[in-house]
Amino acid sequence: MICNNIGVNEKGNLTFAGQDVCELARKYGTPLYLMDEEKIRENCRTYKNAMDAHFESALPVYASKAASFMRMYEIINEEGLGIDVVSVGEIYTAMKAGMSLENAYFHSNNKTDYDVEFAIENGVGYFVVDNEEELYAIERSNKGNPAKQKVLLRLTPGIDTHTYEAVNTGKVDSKFGSAIETGQAEEITRLALEMEEIELMGFHCHIGSQVFDSDTFLRGSEIMLRFAAEMKAKYGYELKELSLGGGYGVKYVESEPEIDIAANIKQVSAYVHNLCAELGLQVPKMIMEPGRSIVADAGMTLYTVGTIKQIPGYKNYISIDGGMTDNPRYALYGSEYTLFVANKATEPADFTADVVGRCCESGDIIQPDVTLPKPVRGDIVAVCTTGAYNYSMASNYNRIARPAVVMLNEGKSYQAVKRESLDDLIMNDL
Ligand code: LLP
Repeated sequence: MICNNIGVNEKGNLTFAGQDVCELARKYGTPLYLMDEEKIRENCRTYKNAMDAHFESALPVYASKAASFMRMYEIINEEGLGIDVVSVGEIYTAMKAGMSLENAYFHSNNKTDYDVEFAIENGVGYFVVDNEEELYAIERSNKGNPAKQKVLLRLTPGIDTHTYEAVNTGKVDSKFGSAIETGQAEEITRLALEMEEIELMGFHCHIGSQVFDSDTFLRGSEIMLRFAAEMKAKYGYELKELSLGGGYGVKYVESEPEIDIAANIKQVSAYVHNLCAELGLQVPKMIMEPGRSIVADAGMTLYTVGTIKQIPGYKNYISIDGGMTDNPRYALYGSEYTLFVANKATEPADFTADVVGRCCESGDIIQPDVTLPKPVRGDIVAVCTTGAYNYSMASNYNRIARPAVVMLNEGKSYQAVKRESLDDLIMNDL
């Protein structure tokens, strides 16, 4: 199985976190997002334990864009991780979930004055500053506050990660951050050091997402630490924190490798320690910002099969009751997924079809060319590894209501997000 929380029971039905998914589909309806709470917690602990073990000071920070709703922040809070937030909406959701914002890192390449004020007023611990204009906005908004605003500067180290273009963010020409190569990173560092309201805690980079190259984080840390050493030599600035961003890849299909995150963190630690010694730097507090690798394999989406269309000599379609509105990732990135017919999990796979959604759009494909046991109307299709960037990227296109999110834990299930109703869809229409 693609992940150890997926199985098959004596009825031949697919199970997730030990529970029969066909029963869950019956109980809650479809489309339905399932989340395995224990898996989320296990993934958090993998980062927390490895970072605590291998660094003097470190904090994993959950990139909440991967899955943002109140129950997620509660779990992250209980597991002792910080959060990466990218909008006032994420900040507000975290606050309402009772999370302290001391360890919140506020990202975004374009924070409006309102965003900056909102974050400062509500005590967001850190800004991850993208550009000089943002520094000025913080300098203005923080006047009158007794404490300086802690910031990390987002820098682009100039690394190409060879993942798909849309999530490749560490290159010099990225819309994010200030490039080291062009001298803009030095400029913004100098500016931050001069500002009265700014406490420069360190530097941040995020190289890409769905990264499998184990040396990406080593190359990233090397470029960042060499830059820090240069800033120390020129301006006497001693780096306190270094964030390497997120990005560890997740296994969506059997052909992809599985990353041993703990072993990778150990390797990064050894590398950082050696390099700091060589460069005469103190080992900074280390931050990592995993999103996908915290929640992706904790998720599964269930759909009910509707129309099955066979076009002789061409292809077959299996239409399901969701689609790009709850999972736009194939439409956007051509992302791969593993699928099952959940009520036929032990039957031979002999029918090849595109599994498509119900939107008025030919690109509304969940996955092309999947070979499954031939389903009939009413069967349940399960798409695995959908915990990251599915619910959080869902839309109401075609006025389709978003599915519920149901958490599974120790044989029990509970709703973390309820299904949108038709009235929810017209709630803001005047
Ligand atoms: N930190 C920063 C600054 C980021 O921009 C991101 C993701 C992360 C951390 C978390 O990266 P992760 O560990 O999840 O790879 N919607 C796309 C992914 C976009 C990633 C955006 N940034 C997808 O569905 O694949």
